[in-house]
Amino acid sequence: MSDRPKVAIIIGSLRANSVNRRLAQAIARQAAPKLDMHIVEIDQVPLYNQDLEADLPAPVRDLKAALAAADGVLVMTPEYNRGMPGVLKNVIDWASRPPGQSIWRGKPVAIAGSSPGALGTGAAQVDARNVLTAIDAAVMGMPQIYFVHREEHFTSEGDFADPKFRDYVDAWTDKFTAWIGKVGG
Ligand code: FNR
Repeated sequence: MSDRPKVAIIIGSLRANSVNRRLAQAIARQAAPKLDMHIVEIDQVPLYNQDLEADLPAPVRDLKAALAAADGVLVMTPEYNRGMPGVLKNVIDWASRPPGQSIWRGKPVAIAGSSPGALGTGAAQVDARNVLTAIDAAVMGMPQIYFVHREEHFTSEGDFADPKFRDYVDAWTDKFTAWIGKVGG
């Protein structure tokens, strides 16, 4: 692993103006001196079908290769009906298969999310954490990022407007970098 660990970001939203994508981009830009973060697109990944496991579809192979090559994964979850969206569960499931070829086992993972709702994806993150710990991902406990989306929380360049939140993201970056060093292979 280099001094600047590679972090794959998966975003559980396919829409162009996703607030979770905006949050991910702002985190990635701010964390850039310490973490090499890049978004792994999931829009071509088909719905999970066990019949396809013997010959994985190309987008699934690409997804698994990108996640396997990363030193850590940031899972950005929107909140749908107090849980994670189906598109996110779908890619988590694909990347856990076939048996014995999961990319999640021991993988350093952080979870974050953004919602216009007052709880900022709290319930969805608990849902994602349950699933990811059950498949043996090394999910960081604290700090956690629950981001209540408001336009005024971003500058016109898409960076965080509030210096207190920038400080929080700096502390999160240091903790996740250390977590990757501690539990990553
Ligand atoms: C939502 N939304 C939502 N928000 C929330 O805080 N708690 C919730 O339980 C739900 N439930 C929910 C269900 C469904 C089907 C949709 C489409 C939306 C609102 C959601 O947070 C909002 O649409 C975000 O903008 C979704 O994230 P992206 O796509 O902008 O990243």
